[in-house]
Amino acid sequence: MNLESAPATMQAKTMCEESSVDDIEVKRVNILHHNIEAEFFEQVHPEGSSIYERSKVLESMLFIFENSTNKALCIDIGCGTGFATSFELPIYKTVVATDISRGMLEVLREKHGNFDSLNLLVCDAEFLPLRSEIADLVSVSSVLHHLPKPFNSLMEISRLLRPDGFLYVIREPNLQRFRRFFDFLDQKMIRRLVELLEFRSGVDSGQLSPAMLKGLDFNMVDIHFSTGFQLAQVTDFLRSRSFNIISAYSYHWVFPRYNKGMLQELLTRSNFSIEKFPLSKKLGRYLSVVARKTG
Ligand SMILES: C[S@@+](CC[C@H](N)C(=O)[O-])C[C@H]1O[C@@H](n2cnc3c(N)ncnc32)[C@H](O)[C@@H]1O
Repeated sequence: MNLESAPATMQAKTMCEESSVDDIEVKRVNILHHNIEAEFFEQVHPEGSSIYERSKVLESMLFIFENSTNKALCIDIGCGTGFATSFELPIYKTVVATDISRGMLEVLREKHGNFDSLNLLVCDAEFLPLRSEIADLVSVSSVLHHLPKPFNSLMEISRLLRPDGFLYVIREPNLQRFRRFFDFLDQKMIRRLVELLEFRSGVDSGQLSPAMLKGLDFNMVDIHFSTGFQLAQVTDFLRSRSFNIISAYSYHWVFPRYNKGMLQELLTRSNFSIEKFPLSKKLGRYLSVVARKTG
């Protein structure tokens, strides 16, 4: 590809794919990290239980369910303990929950093993051991930033979709400069306030012990978290791969670390009000894209 003539967003994408990270090492550390984290994943990632986050995902999932030609097969890539999978299991005849970490899949099975639709597959998002054009929906929730070559993986993921099938990218970090301000607000201001109030009311803040955090390597696994993704970078890429973009926006501003207690609930709810402001769909912490593969 001639980079000179490529649009800026495509240049960013291509450079990202050509970065010099050691792919195998990143994946090896991801397996170790997520095998450890699996047991307490939902404590370290309270965003999955936030009412705001769940309502956004439910809204998009309902759109996809209502507009799908078929609801036979859904594949969740990097499913973790089953955040996106849990929305899909009651709807699709067959759901294949895939992850590079066996520990994550074991937790998912404990939580959702009662669904006949559930199938588990240990595999790497970049090399999926599945036939092309079989899926009606492929979801990828909070996974791309862990992958050494996220756009290669997006290409591999889109290979699985039937023409007319949906791709749903959920909760990827937005471009760093948008997040920095909210991280400051969250970590320095809101968190202190929450801790102060929790101390007074005796509510447990849910912090993790150092022993639980031992062996985790956030720097290495969150390979693209520090920069995040540009919305246009993702949508341009998908358009160039024969997708129609159905929706693409950023969301989630105030984000209390632990979803417990009245103050956290109030802060989480405030996101519904904030999203009414101009530009809010560009400045949120996370990105979401719903795209449909054309014939
Ligand atoms: C932040 S978690 C997200 C889990 C879940 N999708 C959610 O939304 O809560 C990232 C997941 O990606 C998985 N993962 C990391 N690298 C992967 C890879 N190369 N292929 C497949 N899954 C991967 C991890 O094991 C982990 O379960």
